[in-house]
Amino acid sequence: MTSSGAPLQAPIGTHDVLGPASAEWEGLIATFAQFAYRFGFSLIISPLFEDVAVFNRGIGEQSDVAKKEMYVFSDRSDRTYALRPEGTASVVRAFVQHQPNTPWKAWYVTPAFRYERPQAGRYRQHHQLGVEVLGTDDPAVDVEVIALAWRFYEALGLRKVRLLINSMGHDDCRDGFVQLLRDHLSSNASKLCDEHGRLWSENPLRVLDCKKEACRAVTDSGPQLPDHLCDECREHFDRVLNGLSALGISATRDPRLVRGFDYYTRTTFEFVSDSIDGAQNAIGGGGRYDKLAEQLGGKPASGIGFGSGIERLLLARTAEGVQQVLLKRDLDIFVVDTTGVDAATPIVDQLRRAGYAVDRAYDGRSMKAQMKVADKSGARLALLLGPQELAGGQITMKDLRNDDFSNSQRTFDLSDLVANIAKQLEE
Ligand code: HAM
Repeated sequence: MTSSGAPLQAPIGTHDVLGPASAEWEGLIATFAQFAYRFGFSLIISPLFEDVAVFNRGIGEQSDVAKKEMYVFSDRSDRTYALRPEGTASVVRAFVQHQPNTPWKAWYVTPAFRYERPQAGRYRQHHQLGVEVLGTDDPAVDVEVIALAWRFYEALGLRKVRLLINSMGHDDCRDGFVQLLRDHLSSNASKLCDEHGRLWSENPLRVLDCKKEACRAVTDSGPQLPDHLCDECREHFDRVLNGLSALGISATRDPRLVRGFDYYTRTTFEFVSDSIDGAQNAIGGGGRYDKLAEQLGGKPASGIGFGSGIERLLLARTAEGVQQVLLKRDLDIFVVDTTGVDAATPIVDQLRRAGYAVDRAYDGRSMKAQMKVADKSGARLALLLGPQELAGGQITMKDLRNDDFSNSQRTFDLSDLVANIAKQLEE
Protein backbone atom coordinates (compact mmCIF):
# COMPACT_ATOMS: atom_id res chain seq x y z
CA MET A 1 0.00 0.00 0.00
CA THR A 2 1.22 3.52 -0.82
CA SER A 3 1.93 5.60 2.30
CA SER A 4 -0.54 8.48 2.46
CA GLY A 5 2.14 11.20 2.19
CA ALA A 6 4.02 9.96 -0.88
CA PRO A 7 3.36 12.05 -4.01
CA LEU A 8 1.66 9.84 -6.60
CA GLN A 9 2.79 9.84 -10.22
CA ALA A 10 1.14 9.22 -13.59
CA PRO A 11 1.66 5.61 -14.76
CA ILE A 12 4.83 4.76 -16.71
CA GLY A 13 4.47 5.59 -20.40
CA THR A 14 1.69 8.15 -19.84
CA HIS A 15 1.89 11.89 -19.40
CA ASP A 16 -0.12 14.88 -18.26
CA VAL A 17 -0.54 17.74 -20.70
CA LEU A 18 -0.99 21.08 -18.95
CA GLY A 19 -1.32 24.61 -20.24
CA PRO A 20 0.26 26.33 -22.08
CA ALA A 21 1.39 23.18 -24.00
CA SER A 22 -2.19 21.89 -24.04
CA ALA A 23 -3.14 24.85 -26.29
CA GLU A 24 -1.21 23.10 -29.06
CA TRP A 25 -3.34 20.01 -28.52
CA GLU A 26 -6.49 22.09 -28.68
CA GLY A 27 -5.27 23.73 -31.88
CA LEU A 28 -4.42 20.39 -33.46
CA ILE A 29 -7.77 18.85 -32.57
CA ALA A 30 -9.70 21.95 -33.69
CA THR A 31 -7.84 21.99 -37.01
CA PHE A 32 -8.54 18.31 -37.55
CA ALA A 33 -12.22 18.78 -36.67
CA GLN A 34 -12.37 21.57 -39.27
CA PHE A 35 -10.86 19.34 -41.96
CA ALA A 36 -13.12 16.43 -41.05
CA TYR A 37 -16.13 18.75 -41.32
CA ARG A 38 -14.99 20.05 -44.71
CA PHE A 39 -14.63 16.49 -45.95
CA GLY A 40 -18.13 15.51 -44.78
CA PHE A 41 -17.35 13.54 -41.60
CA SER A 42 -19.26 13.63 -38.30
CA LEU A 43 -17.79 13.03 -34.88
CA ILE A 44 -18.23 9.62 -33.23
CA ILE A 45 -17.80 9.10 -29.51
CA SER A 46 -17.74 5.50 -28.34
CA PRO A 47 -16.63 3.69 -25.17
CA LEU A 48 -12.95 3.53 -24.29
CA PHE A 49 -13.37 -0.11 -23.35
CA GLU A 50 -15.07 -2.86 -25.31
CA ASP A 51 -15.74 -6.57 -25.05
CA VAL A 52 -12.27 -8.01 -25.66
CA ALA A 53 -13.75 -9.93 -28.64
CA VAL A 54 -14.11 -6.64 -30.56
CA PHE A 55 -10.33 -6.35 -30.69
CA ASN A 56 -9.48 -10.05 -30.82
CA ARG A 57 -11.76 -10.53 -33.81
CA GLY A 58 -11.01 -7.07 -35.22
CA ILE A 59 -7.27 -6.57 -35.12
CA GLY A 60 -6.61 -10.34 -34.92
CA GLU A 61 -5.79 -12.48 -31.90
CA GLN A 62 -2.36 -13.20 -33.37
CA SER A 63 -1.39 -9.55 -33.88
CA ASP A 64 1.35 -8.26 -31.58
CA VAL A 65 -0.99 -5.63 -30.20
CA ALA A 66 -3.66 -8.17 -29.17
CA LYS A 67 -1.17 -10.74 -27.92
CA LYS A 68 1.30 -8.59 -26.04
CA GLU A 69 0.08 -5.05 -25.63
CA MET A 70 -3.62 -4.97 -24.83
CA TYR A 71 -4.86 -3.87 -21.40
CA VAL A 72 -7.38 -6.63 -20.66
CA PHE A 73 -9.38 -6.70 -17.43
CA SER A 74 -12.42 -8.26 -15.80
CA ASP A 75 -15.10 -6.08 -14.26
CA ARG A 76 -16.95 -6.93 -11.05
CA SER A 77 -19.36 -9.12 -12.99
CA ASP A 78 -16.51 -11.09 -14.56
CA ARG A 79 -17.00 -9.71 -18.04
CA THR A 80 -13.74 -9.46 -19.97
CA TYR A 81 -13.02 -6.08 -21.48
CA ALA A 82 -10.05 -4.37 -23.09
CA LEU A 83 -9.05 -0.71 -23.18
CA ARG A 84 -9.04 0.32 -26.81
CA PRO A 85 -5.58 -0.15 -28.32
CA GLU A 86 -6.72 1.66 -31.50
CA GLY A 87 -9.83 3.34 -32.86
CA THR A 88 -10.98 1.37 -35.90
CA ALA A 89 -12.41 -1.81 -34.34
CA SER A 90 -14.64 0.20 -31.96
CA VAL A 91 -15.93 2.42 -34.75
CA VAL A 92 -16.77 -0.60 -36.90
CA ARG A 93 -18.45 -2.27 -33.90
CA ALA A 94 -20.61 0.86 -33.54
CA PHE A 95 -21.37 0.79 -37.28
CA VAL A 96 -22.48 -2.84 -37.08
CA GLN A 97 -24.59 -2.11 -34.01
CA HIS A 98 -26.37 1.03 -35.28
CA GLN A 99 -26.51 0.34 -39.03
CA PRO A 100 -26.36 3.99 -40.12
CA ASN A 101 -26.98 4.98 -43.74
CA THR A 102 -23.99 4.41 -45.97
CA PRO A 103 -21.57 5.68 -46.97
CA TRP A 104 -21.00 6.49 -43.33
CA LYS A 105 -18.16 8.88 -42.54
CA ALA A 106 -17.01 9.25 -38.94
CA TRP A 107 -14.07 11.06 -37.32
CA TYR A 108 -12.70 10.69 -33.82
CA VAL A 109 -10.13 11.84 -31.32
CA THR A 110 -9.25 9.18 -28.79
CA PRO A 111 -6.68 7.92 -26.36
CA ALA A 112 -5.31 4.48 -27.25
CA PHE A 113 -3.66 2.10 -24.80
CA ARG A 114 -0.82 -0.27 -25.63
CA TYR A 115 1.60 -1.91 -23.22
CA GLU A 116 4.72 -0.88 -25.14
CA ARG A 117 8.27 -0.14 -24.04
CA PRO A 118 7.98 3.61 -23.47
CA GLN A 119 10.40 5.91 -25.30
CA ALA A 120 10.20 9.26 -27.10
CA GLY A 121 7.24 8.99 -29.49
CA ARG A 122 6.04 5.64 -28.06
CA TYR A 123 3.73 5.64 -25.07
CA ARG A 124 1.38 3.35 -23.16
CA GLN A 125 -1.37 5.91 -23.60
CA HIS A 126 -1.15 7.83 -26.82
CA HIS A 127 -3.81 9.85 -28.64
CA GLN A 128 -5.09 9.53 -32.16
CA LEU A 129 -7.04 11.68 -34.57
CA GLY A 130 -8.71 9.50 -37.16
CA VAL A 131 -11.46 8.91 -39.67
CA GLU A 132 -13.32 5.85 -40.95
CA VAL A 133 -15.61 5.48 -43.98
CA LEU A 134 -17.90 2.45 -44.21
CA GLY A 135 -20.16 1.14 -46.93
CA THR A 136 -18.21 1.80 -50.12
CA ASP A 137 -15.16 0.35 -51.86
CA ASP A 138 -14.89 3.15 -54.41
CA PRO A 139 -11.18 3.94 -54.89
CA ALA A 140 -12.17 7.63 -54.83
CA VAL A 141 -12.76 7.16 -51.09
CA ASP A 142 -9.24 5.80 -50.60
CA VAL A 143 -7.99 8.94 -52.34
CA GLU A 144 -10.23 11.20 -50.27
CA VAL A 145 -9.17 9.68 -46.94
CA ILE A 146 -5.48 9.94 -47.83
CA ALA A 147 -6.00 13.50 -49.13
CA LEU A 148 -7.66 14.52 -45.85
CA ALA A 149 -4.59 13.42 -43.90
CA TRP A 150 -2.22 15.01 -46.41
CA ARG A 151 -4.01 18.40 -46.44
CA PHE A 152 -4.20 18.31 -42.64
CA TYR A 153 -0.45 17.77 -42.37
CA GLU A 154 0.10 20.64 -44.83
CA ALA A 155 -2.08 22.90 -42.69
CA LEU A 156 0.00 21.98 -39.63
CA GLY A 157 3.02 23.33 -41.47
CA LEU A 158 4.66 19.90 -41.90
CA ARG A 159 6.80 19.70 -45.02
CA LYS A 160 8.97 16.65 -44.41
CA VAL A 161 6.23 14.03 -44.69
CA ARG A 162 6.31 11.13 -47.14
CA LEU A 163 3.37 8.92 -48.08
CA LEU A 164 4.11 5.20 -48.42
CA ILE A 165 1.46 3.05 -50.06
CA ASN A 166 0.81 -0.60 -50.87
CA SER A 167 -2.02 -2.94 -51.74
CA MET A 168 -2.51 -6.14 -49.77
CA GLY A 169 -5.12 -7.50 -52.16
CA HIS A 170 -8.25 -9.34 -51.16
CA ASP A 171 -8.52 -12.80 -49.60
CA ASP A 172 -8.00 -14.73 -52.82
CA CYS A 173 -4.95 -12.97 -54.19
CA ARG A 174 -3.46 -12.55 -50.72
CA ASP A 175 -3.88 -16.22 -49.84
CA GLY A 176 -1.96 -17.19 -52.99
CA PHE A 177 0.82 -14.76 -52.06
CA VAL A 178 0.96 -15.92 -48.44
CA GLN A 179 1.46 -19.50 -49.65
CA LEU A 180 4.40 -18.42 -51.82
CA LEU A 181 5.83 -16.37 -48.94
CA ARG A 182 5.41 -19.35 -46.59
CA ASP A 183 7.42 -21.58 -48.98
CA HIS A 184 10.12 -18.92 -49.26
CA LEU A 185 10.34 -18.41 -45.49
CA SER A 186 10.35 -22.13 -44.83
CA SER A 187 13.48 -22.61 -46.94
CA ASN A 188 15.15 -19.54 -45.35
CA ALA A 189 13.92 -19.88 -41.75
CA SER A 190 17.43 -20.21 -40.31
CA LYS A 191 18.36 -16.76 -41.70
CA LEU A 192 15.46 -14.91 -40.03
CA CYS A 193 15.77 -12.86 -36.80
CA ASP A 194 15.35 -14.81 -33.52
CA GLU A 195 11.69 -13.93 -33.08
CA HIS A 196 10.59 -14.67 -36.62
CA GLY A 197 12.83 -17.73 -36.89
CA ARG A 198 10.49 -19.20 -34.26
CA LEU A 199 7.21 -17.56 -35.21
CA TRP A 200 7.17 -17.01 -38.98
CA SER A 201 4.71 -19.81 -39.69
CA GLU A 202 1.99 -18.34 -37.39
CA ASN A 203 1.63 -15.28 -39.59
CA PRO A 204 4.15 -15.01 -42.42
CA LEU A 205 3.01 -11.46 -43.32
CA ARG A 206 4.43 -10.18 -40.02
CA VAL A 207 7.94 -11.04 -41.26
CA LEU A 208 7.48 -8.40 -44.02
CA ASP A 209 6.92 -5.86 -41.25
CA CYS A 210 10.10 -6.78 -39.35
CA LYS A 211 12.67 -3.99 -39.26
CA LYS A 212 15.65 -6.32 -38.57
CA GLU A 213 18.24 -6.58 -41.33
CA ALA A 214 18.16 -10.42 -41.31
CA CYS A 215 14.42 -10.57 -42.05
CA ARG A 216 14.67 -7.73 -44.58
CA ALA A 217 17.34 -9.62 -46.56
CA VAL A 218 15.18 -12.76 -46.68
CA THR A 219 11.98 -10.96 -47.68
CA ASP A 220 13.79 -8.81 -50.27
CA SER A 221 14.72 -11.93 -52.19
CA GLY A 222 11.24 -13.45 -51.87
CA PRO A 223 7.88 -12.94 -53.61
CA GLN A 224 6.51 -9.36 -53.58
CA LEU A 225 2.87 -8.76 -52.69
CA PRO A 226 2.00 -6.28 -55.48
CA ASP A 227 3.14 -8.79 -58.14
CA HIS A 228 0.41 -11.19 -57.03
CA LEU A 229 -2.69 -9.01 -57.02
CA CYS A 230 -5.76 -10.21 -58.92
CA ASP A 231 -7.01 -8.02 -61.80
CA GLU A 232 -9.67 -6.34 -59.66
CA CYS A 233 -7.29 -5.47 -56.85
CA ARG A 234 -4.67 -4.25 -59.30
CA GLU A 235 -7.23 -2.01 -60.99
CA HIS A 236 -8.37 -0.67 -57.61
CA PHE A 237 -4.78 0.12 -56.68
CA ASP A 238 -4.06 1.81 -60.02
CA ARG A 239 -7.12 4.01 -59.60
CA VAL A 240 -5.98 5.03 -56.11
CA LEU A 241 -2.48 5.86 -57.38
CA ASN A 242 -3.86 7.84 -60.34
CA GLY A 243 -6.33 9.69 -58.10
CA LEU A 244 -3.56 10.75 -55.74
CA SER A 245 -1.35 11.85 -58.56
CA ALA A 246 -4.21 13.96 -60.00
CA LEU A 247 -4.29 15.81 -56.66
CA GLY A 248 -0.54 16.34 -56.72
CA ILE A 249 0.00 14.00 -53.74
CA SER A 250 3.12 11.96 -54.36
CA ALA A 251 3.09 8.42 -53.02
CA THR A 252 5.99 5.98 -52.81
CA ARG A 253 5.08 2.34 -53.32
CA ASP A 254 6.29 0.13 -50.48
CA PRO A 255 5.62 -3.59 -50.98
CA ARG A 256 6.47 -4.27 -47.30
CA LEU A 257 3.68 -2.14 -45.97
CA VAL A 258 1.38 -4.83 -44.51
CA ARG A 259 0.79 -2.95 -41.21
CA GLY A 260 0.32 -4.52 -37.81
CA PHE A 261 -3.36 -5.47 -37.76
CA ASP A 262 -5.01 -8.44 -39.45
CA TYR A 263 -8.03 -6.51 -40.71
CA TYR A 264 -6.32 -4.80 -43.64
CA THR A 265 -7.26 -5.58 -47.25
CA ARG A 266 -6.23 -3.79 -50.45
CA THR A 267 -4.90 -0.25 -49.88
CA THR A 268 -2.54 0.26 -46.93
CA PHE A 269 -0.63 3.49 -46.34
CA GLU A 270 1.58 5.24 -43.86
CA PHE A 271 2.82 8.81 -43.45
CA VAL A 272 6.39 9.04 -42.26
CA SER A 273 8.15 12.15 -41.04
CA ASP A 274 11.77 12.54 -42.09
CA SER A 275 12.28 14.93 -39.20
CA ILE A 276 11.82 12.38 -36.38
CA ASP A 277 13.64 9.27 -35.26
CA GLY A 278 13.36 6.21 -37.52
CA ALA A 279 11.57 3.75 -35.24
CA GLN A 280 8.86 6.25 -34.29
CA ASN A 281 8.66 8.17 -37.55
CA ALA A 282 5.12 7.09 -38.53
CA ILE A 283 2.89 10.09 -37.87
CA GLY A 284 -0.15 8.32 -39.30
CA GLY A 285 -1.28 5.17 -40.99
CA GLY A 286 -4.32 3.37 -42.22
CA GLY A 287 -5.91 1.33 -44.93
CA ARG A 288 -8.88 -0.61 -46.19
CA TYR A 289 -10.62 -3.30 -44.16
CA ASP A 290 -13.32 -4.74 -46.39
CA LYS A 291 -14.06 -7.79 -44.18
CA LEU A 292 -14.01 -6.18 -40.75
CA ALA A 293 -17.75 -5.45 -40.46
CA GLU A 294 -18.49 -9.13 -41.17
CA GLN A 295 -15.80 -10.25 -38.71
CA LEU A 296 -17.62 -8.24 -36.05
CA GLY A 297 -20.93 -9.94 -36.89
CA GLY A 298 -22.38 -7.37 -39.31
CA LYS A 299 -23.49 -7.42 -42.92
CA PRO A 300 -20.71 -7.10 -45.49
CA ALA A 301 -19.52 -3.47 -45.72
CA SER A 302 -16.22 -2.22 -47.06
CA GLY A 303 -14.29 0.32 -45.03
CA ILE A 304 -11.22 2.50 -44.99
CA GLY A 305 -9.66 4.98 -42.58
CA PHE A 306 -6.53 6.25 -40.91
CA GLY A 307 -5.28 7.24 -37.48
CA SER A 308 -2.62 9.81 -36.70
CA GLY A 309 -0.75 10.12 -33.39
CA ILE A 310 -1.12 13.55 -31.77
CA GLU A 311 2.15 13.21 -29.82
CA ARG A 312 4.04 12.33 -32.99
CA LEU A 313 2.48 15.21 -34.94
CA LEU A 314 3.67 17.57 -32.23
CA LEU A 315 7.15 15.99 -32.23
CA ALA A 316 7.31 16.46 -36.01
CA ARG A 317 6.20 20.10 -35.74
CA THR A 318 8.88 20.77 -33.14
CA ALA A 319 11.54 18.93 -35.14
CA GLU A 320 10.64 20.89 -38.27
CA GLY A 321 10.71 24.13 -36.28
CA VAL A 322 7.14 25.07 -37.23
CA GLN A 323 6.37 28.45 -35.61
CA GLN A 324 2.74 28.85 -36.61
CA VAL A 325 0.35 28.92 -33.64
CA LEU A 326 -2.76 26.87 -34.37
CA LEU A 327 -5.01 28.41 -31.78
CA LYS A 328 -4.66 31.73 -29.99
CA ARG A 329 -4.94 31.02 -26.29
CA ASP A 330 -3.61 34.27 -24.78
CA LEU A 331 -5.76 36.17 -22.33
CA ASP A 332 -7.06 39.54 -23.51
CA ILE A 333 -7.64 41.10 -20.12
CA PHE A 334 -6.67 40.63 -16.47
CA VAL A 335 -8.78 42.40 -13.85
CA VAL A 336 -7.11 43.71 -10.68
CA ASP A 337 -9.55 44.63 -7.91
CA THR A 338 -8.46 46.39 -4.70
CA THR A 339 -11.91 47.77 -3.79
CA GLY A 340 -12.46 45.16 -1.10
CA VAL A 341 -16.08 44.74 -2.29
CA ASP A 342 -15.51 42.42 -5.24
CA ALA A 343 -16.31 44.95 -7.95
CA ALA A 344 -14.49 42.64 -10.40
CA THR A 345 -17.17 39.96 -10.69
CA PRO A 346 -19.78 41.91 -12.75
CA ILE A 347 -17.06 43.50 -14.89
CA VAL A 348 -15.43 40.17 -15.70
CA ASP A 349 -18.87 38.79 -16.55
CA GLN A 350 -19.65 41.73 -18.85
CA LEU A 351 -16.35 41.37 -20.72
CA ARG A 352 -16.63 37.62 -21.12
CA ARG A 353 -20.15 38.06 -22.49
CA ALA A 354 -18.70 40.56 -24.96
CA GLY A 355 -16.39 37.77 -26.17
CA TYR A 356 -13.08 38.56 -24.44
CA ALA A 357 -10.82 36.08 -22.67
CA VAL A 358 -10.64 37.44 -19.16
CA ASP A 359 -9.09 36.33 -15.89
CA ARG A 360 -8.83 38.01 -12.51
CA ALA A 361 -7.11 37.85 -9.14
CA TYR A 362 -8.73 36.28 -6.08
CA ASP A 363 -8.37 36.40 -2.32
CA GLY A 364 -8.32 40.25 -2.01
CA ARG A 365 -4.52 40.44 -2.25
CA SER A 366 -2.47 43.65 -2.42
CA MET A 367 -2.23 45.72 -5.60
CA LYS A 368 1.40 44.67 -6.00
CA ALA A 369 0.61 40.95 -5.65
CA GLN A 370 -2.30 41.17 -8.11
CA MET A 371 -0.22 43.08 -10.66
CA LYS A 372 2.44 40.39 -10.46
CA VAL A 373 -0.16 37.78 -11.40
CA ALA A 374 -1.47 40.06 -14.18
CA ASP A 375 2.04 40.39 -15.63
CA LYS A 376 2.55 36.63 -15.57
CA SER A 377 -0.86 35.90 -17.07
CA GLY A 378 0.15 36.84 -20.60
CA ALA A 379 -2.87 39.18 -20.88
CA ARG A 380 -2.60 42.14 -23.21
CA LEU A 381 -4.46 44.56 -20.89
CA ALA A 382 -4.99 44.94 -17.16
CA LEU A 383 -8.04 46.67 -15.74
CA LEU A 384 -7.49 48.29 -12.37
CA LEU A 385 -10.34 48.87 -9.97
CA GLY A 386 -9.51 50.65 -6.72
CA PRO A 387 -11.65 52.54 -4.17
CA GLN A 388 -11.09 55.79 -6.09
CA GLU A 389 -12.26 54.36 -9.42
CA LEU A 390 -15.20 52.71 -7.71
CA ALA A 391 -16.32 56.01 -6.14
CA GLY A 392 -16.10 57.86 -9.48
CA GLY A 393 -17.75 55.12 -11.61
CA GLN A 394 -14.45 54.77 -13.49
CA ILE A 395 -11.85 52.15 -14.36
CA THR A 396 -8.16 52.28 -15.30
CA MET A 397 -6.81 50.36 -18.27
CA LYS A 398 -3.14 49.47 -18.52
CA ASP A 399 -1.40 48.09 -21.60
CA LEU A 400 0.77 45.30 -20.18
CA ARG A 401 2.92 45.16 -23.30
CA ASN A 402 3.86 48.82 -23.14
CA ASP A 403 6.79 49.59 -20.81
CA ASP A 404 6.36 53.36 -21.10
CA PHE A 405 4.51 54.01 -17.83
CA SER A 406 2.98 57.41 -18.67
CA ASN A 407 1.59 56.20 -21.99
CA SER A 408 0.51 52.79 -20.93
CA GLN A 409 -2.49 53.63 -18.79
CA ARG A 410 -5.59 55.76 -18.80
CA THR A 411 -8.80 56.09 -16.82
CA PHE A 412 -12.30 56.37 -18.30
CA ASP A 413 -15.95 55.94 -17.39
CA LEU A 414 -17.13 52.41 -16.74
CA SER A 415 -20.01 52.94 -19.18
CA ASP A 416 -17.41 53.21 -22.02
CA LEU A 417 -15.61 50.03 -21.00
CA VAL A 418 -16.30 47.70 -23.93
CA ALA A 419 -15.77 50.42 -26.57
CA ASN A 420 -12.41 51.39 -25.03
CA ILE A 421 -11.25 47.79 -24.80
CA ALA A 422 -12.23 47.11 -28.42
CA LYS A 423 -10.31 50.17 -29.58
CA GLN A 424 -7.22 49.34 -27.55
CA LEU A 425 -7.12 45.68 -28.65
CA GLU A 426 -7.40 46.69 -32.30
CA GLU A 427 -4.30 48.88 -32.09
P1 HAM B 1 -1.50 2.50 -36.06
O1 HAM B 1 -0.50 2.62 -37.18
O2 HAM B 1 -1.29 1.41 -35.10
O3 HAM B 1 -2.90 2.37 -36.77
O4 HAM B 1 -1.58 3.86 -35.25
C1 HAM B 1 -1.85 5.07 -35.90
C2 HAM B 1 -0.85 6.13 -35.47
O5 HAM B 1 -0.88 6.29 -34.05
C3 HAM B 1 0.61 5.80 -35.76
O6 HAM B 1 0.95 6.14 -37.09
C4 HAM B 1 1.33 6.68 -34.76
O7 HAM B 1 1.38 8.02 -35.24
C5 HAM B 1 0.40 6.64 -33.56
N1 HAM B 1 0.83 5.64 -32.56
C6 HAM B 1 0.62 4.31 -32.58
N2 HAM B 1 1.12 3.72 -31.48
C7 HAM B 1 1.66 4.71 -30.73
C8 HAM B 1 2.34 4.75 -29.46
N3 HAM B 1 2.53 3.66 -28.72
N4 HAM B 1 2.77 5.96 -28.99
C9 HAM B 1 2.57 7.09 -29.72
N5 HAM B 1 1.93 7.10 -30.91
C10 HAM B 1 1.50 5.94 -31.42
C11 HAM B 1 -4.07 2.30 -36.12
O8 HAM B 1 -4.21 2.45 -34.92
C12 HAM B 1 -5.25 2.08 -37.04
N6 HAM B 1 -6.48 2.07 -36.24
C13 HAM B 1 -5.32 3.16 -38.12
C14 HAM B 1 -6.46 2.94 -39.05
C15 HAM B 1 -7.62 3.62 -39.07
N7 HAM B 1 -6.53 2.01 -39.98
C16 HAM B 1 -7.71 2.09 -40.58
N8 HAM B 1 -8.39 3.05 -40.03
